[in-house]
Amino acid sequence: MGAIAFGATLLLVLSLVHHIQGEKKLEAKGIEINGGCDIYQGTWVRDDSYPLYDVSQCPFIEREFDCLKNGRPDKDYLKYRWQPSWCNLPRFDGQDLLEKLRGKSIMFVGDSLSLNQWQSLTCMLHVAAPLAQYTSSRTGGLSIFNFPAYNAKVMFSRNAFLVDIVSTSKGAVLRLDSIEGGKLWTGMDVLVFNSWHWWLHTGRKQPWNYIQEGSTLYQDMDRLEAYEKGLNTWARWVDNNVDPAKTKIFFQGVSPDHMNGSDWGEPSAVNCRDQTQPVLGTMYPTGTPKAQLVVEKVLRRMSKPVHLLDVTKLSQLRKDAHPSVYGHGGHRDMDCSHWCLAGVPDTWNELLYAILVQT
Ligand SMILES: *[C@@H]1O[C@H](CO)[C@@H](O)[C@H](O)[C@H]1NC(C)=O
Repeated sequence: MGAIAFGATLLLVLSLVHHIQGEKKLEAKGIEINGGCDIYQGTWVRDDSYPLYDVSQCPFIEREFDCLKNGRPDKDYLKYRWQPSWCNLPRFDGQDLLEKLRGKSIMFVGDSLSLNQWQSLTCMLHVAAPLAQYTSSRTGGLSIFNFPAYNAKVMFSRNAFLVDIVSTSKGAVLRLDSIEGGKLWTGMDVLVFNSWHWWLHTGRKQPWNYIQEGSTLYQDMDRLEAYEKGLNTWARWVDNNVDPAKTKIFFQGVSPDHMNGSDWGEPSAVNCRDQTQPVLGTMYPTGTPKAQLVVEKVLRRMSKPVHLLDVTKLSQLRKDAHPSVYGHGGHRDMDCSHWCLAGVPDTWNELLYAILVQT
């Protein structure tokens, strides 16, 4: 009896310790910079020194993000800086970042939100070093932006699910436990992953016919559940393949969209159109999206250190910063998911920079 009780107590203590370590680890993973200050907790403040670059000086910007060129009339959205509540971010220094990237490669892997951030970073670096030659190439889903003088590569690998989609005789199959795409990610110095929006697509926008887990094919599945299974496969890939001494790993938190004014307490707004000001203050009424809670859960269970680039809440506050009708399809379209450039992804990169220079 005594031994059993002792054993049970020991187990309880061990699992408590494990739990506490798990919590600690998440902190160490995400926010132990700026002396432990949580840089993701804060507010948007007006700053007339912004934006960080004049987008007309960035010749390779994709039309879909170039809201000014597409006719956006208001400009206040360009004038906001992210201010953490308890510390200051270092001012972004593109020259410094280029030096730090000398001989190195950084790769963004994910959907068009990763494209958004990659484009932002290439513009930020080009404007910081306008005389430095650059080359830009794209092969299939892989885009490589290179500064030969620095041998610094900034890459984007389009991969909406992270796990594989394979063609079979039955049609396209989303394989939740297969991640052959990971072969492209080895050897990088910095990897920044993101995936979520495509997990929601249905109908003509859904690029698969079946979901496969193990040897079972499913017609469909709860999308959050599928997302968690896919992310767990990604997490296993990182834990088995990444050497943290060589590679820093980031996961970009879920990028929020603004399709319904009820989310920010303005039910008369049917989407992000005509929003010209951010939500001020530190709180967003709807709280953390469910998909973001899945990301946090998966990261907590990992053994390798992954920084959660926790852009979710700060981006939730920026209902004003989407292209709306000044994006890809112009007035025929309504884009409340991507972000104008210059704009919010520049801040994601300022945060990335703050972490890279301190770790
Ligand atoms: C917006 O959200 C509210 C509250 O959740 C809901 O009642 C409403 O139907 C939504 N509107 C649209 C257009 O989806």
